[in-house]
Amino acid sequence: MQLTTEEQAILSGSKGPALQKAMRSVVAFGETFGATGLVRITGPGHLVTSFGASMIGPHYRMMEELIGAGLHTPWPFTVDPRPADFKNVPSSLPEKLVTRLVYSRQRPYEAQLARVGLRNADAFTCTCYLPEVGNRPKFGDVLAWSESSAVVFANSVIGARTNRNSGGIDLLCNLLGKAPLFGLLTDEGRRADWLVEVRTTSLPNAQVLGSAIGMRVMEDVPYIVGLDQWLGSGVNDAAADYLKDMGAASASNGAVGLYHVEGMTPEAVKIGRGLLRREYRTYVVDDAELERVAASYPVLWREPGARPSLCFVGCPHLSLGQLHQWTEAIVQAVRQYGRPRLAVPTVLCAAPDVLRAFRASGSAEARLLATGARLTSLCPLMFMNNPLSARRPVVTNSNKLRTYSTARFYPDEELLAIISSGRLQEEG
Ligand code: F3S
Repeated sequence: MQLTTEEQAILSGSKGPALQKAMRSVVAFGETFGATGLVRITGPGHLVTSFGASMIGPHYRMMEELIGAGLHTPWPFTVDPRPADFKNVPSSLPEKLVTRLVYSRQRPYEAQLARVGLRNADAFTCTCYLPEVGNRPKFGDVLAWSESSAVVFANSVIGARTNRNSGGIDLLCNLLGKAPLFGLLTDEGRRADWLVEVRTTSLPNAQVLGSAIGMRVMEDVPYIVGLDQWLGSGVNDAAADYLKDMGAASASNGAVGLYHVEGMTPEAVKIGRGLLRREYRTYVVDDAELERVAASYPVLWREPGARPSLCFVGCPHLSLGQLHQWTEAIVQAVRQYGRPRLAVPTVLCAAPDVLRAFRASGSAEARLLATGARLTSLCPLMFMNNPLSARRPVVTNSNKLRTYSTARFYPDEELLAIISSGRLQEEG
């Protein structure tokens, strides 16, 4: 790996042992992936590690060392959502006790993050790029992000450049202001290995389409055709929401860090099918293929026929537009089922800044809360990491949450029927 004189000097300890170790780690990480050198980061970071899990002691010791050396990121960074919200997410006393134990370092860790550059106490969300939050890179920016759903959005929808870095390395890169040059930071790494032809009879469910693509292409780059006939050209707000959810599913059901959508995403608009590698493969997605994929999801509940006890919507966190859409859908569903309130405790997850904007936008919050639904900024996956919560029959419309937990996936319409009636639809 080719280093500049300045980088070489840092590696030799010219700026102290903490920065030397940071450089050593970043260089080793880059060399593992065949990086040719380091490039300057041009925008704020977004870190995956937001939770004070008691078991990651070495990470906290590293943080102390970085703080002790006075290191700070050039721009304030954002981080993934917090792991707990006892006020808004229904939890039993034993669940609360276990959560407190598992995430016992939350407060001190947040204090550590603040000292190395955390933006503020509201910087906890995976949708940092939403306008209300404001950590939105520009086209062509070089970044060192790590949260998979944010990485795939930044790369694909915005056209920024970041690899899917590991937790810890993301912070070290941002402290150094440098990222190893390989993979999705290079023109070659951004070329498409797959042509994905969407040939469904209507706009596919974003979460199932993302899942199908992720499972097929794994960490490769897909070039997707056929979506612009329903979503229009370019990326408006509705298309951005769709691509956010599709991308998160592709990044979790597979390991997609970048996709191109013909006629929509910036590099596809600019370069078109010239992005395809000469030896690309083709994957056709039709209605039957999506049905096959959705039917393949295993049921991990202890009692498959149990009545759902909790529902999460918003993984990744909801946009302001999605919060309003869900409010209308829930209010209407409750009315349709002739109930005063939802039958299943339902939690909608969004960034603190998005929730603030939602609360400020008229009567929507009051109408939503009147149905019994709750609002939170927590990460539902962190909630489900509690072994007691993992035993609960939880339903969701998130394919990422389904993949990493025992929660059961349902498309939006079906989920609305479940949370309104209290029954799984297969029960009738
Ligand atoms: Fe975001 Fe947590 Fe889901 S980080 S994408 S809410 S797993």
